[in-house]
Amino acid sequence: MSSNPSREQENTEQPLSAEQVLRPKNFDEYVGQKKIKENVRTMVTAAKQRGEPVDHMLFYGQAGLGKTTLAMIVADAMGSSLHTTTGPAIEKSADLAALLSSLEEGDVLFIDEIHRLHKSVEEVLYPAMETRTLHLVVGKGPTARMLSIDLSPFTLIGATTRIDMLTSPLRSRFGAVFRLDYYTHEDIEKIVERSARLLNIEIEQKAQQSIARASRFTPRTANRLLKRVRDVSQVLGEQVITQESALRALEMFDIDYLGLEDHDRKLLSIIEHKFKGGPVGIATLSAALGQDKKTIEEIYEPFLLKAGLLQRTSGGRVITDLARKHIDE
Ligand SMILES: Nc1ncnc2c1ncn2[C@@H]1O[C@H](COP(=O)(O)OP(=O)(O)OP(=O)(O)O)[C@@H](O)[C@H]1O
Ligand SMILES: [Mg+2]
Repeated sequence: MSSNPSREQENTEQPLSAEQVLRPKNFDEYVGQKKIKENVRTMVTAAKQRGEPVDHMLFYGQAGLGKTTLAMIVADAMGSSLHTTTGPAIEKSADLAALLSSLEEGDVLFIDEIHRLHKSVEEVLYPAMETRTLHLVVGKGPTARMLSIDLSPFTLIGATTRIDMLTSPLRSRFGAVFRLDYYTHEDIEKIVERSARLLNIEIEQKAQQSIARASRFTPRTANRLLKRVRDVSQVLGEQVITQESALRALEMFDIDYLGLEDHDRKLLSIIEHKFKGGPVGIATLSAALGQDKKTIEEIYEPFLLKAGLLQRTSGGRVITDLARKHIDE
């Protein structure tokens, strides 16, 4: 064993997890979302030219579309340290005050699930975002007084899957708000190809396409399916992943070739069989499915709408011919 301390440190390093290997590290590696990427990149470049921290930004969109990844890329591109926390983890306003005052000039504070910040905590954030000051109330009752503390210039990046639950005062304090949409099929195929390359997986193009089609236009799902397909193929002793084993893996996990899971099929099938294909109102659908309205609207429906399986009309939800064909298969 070497006595060189840096060598020793190297030896104890854990191998990178698949998650770490796959996460894009810079704008060029980040596939798709072209418009957002260019806008964010421009903000970063301009801020760097001025020698200022980049303005506060908010990323919102469905789970697994790359919000956290983008926050990491911004911090890295700014050459800043990234401090990560989540809305529910900040219980009291004093916790946030401590966090904010520990930031150094140019640091990026990433608050995931920012819609879950407590109201009292959120109020500490407003002046911090606007004028980089902390307003703290010291003492109680008639002797209580307000203390203002200057903070180092910093950037707040918020992420949420539930923009509807974010208060408008908070939302309006971000210098830019970006909505991440589902990826195109081509971009998801690129992601599957990139991930296979990074994980040294030999895979037929048709198998890649099947994974992309079933991935709900979502990078995280694409990567997860790729790993499950690799398991099946490996156990079958294949040298190269074939489309057959890709389809077999999807079947094992009850994911059909369009990426639908049980709850999606159930939703479509209820509309088709109980309500003659619709239109059916959200309240009725929610009762029939035994699912909360918001869950249906925010978690289940966006993908079904995007995939062209469901439509929202003024009279309620209607399933499309594509969905009808699909559930009858
Ligand atoms: N544009 C992209 N190109 C390639 N891979 C991506 C891209 N965006 C995301 N990924 C991959 O998908 C995974 C999920 O992304 P990420 O964790 O950033 O999503 P998220 O939007 O923060 O999700 P959540 O709302 O659940 O926190 C990442 O680990 C990354 O490997
Ligand atoms: Mg995230």
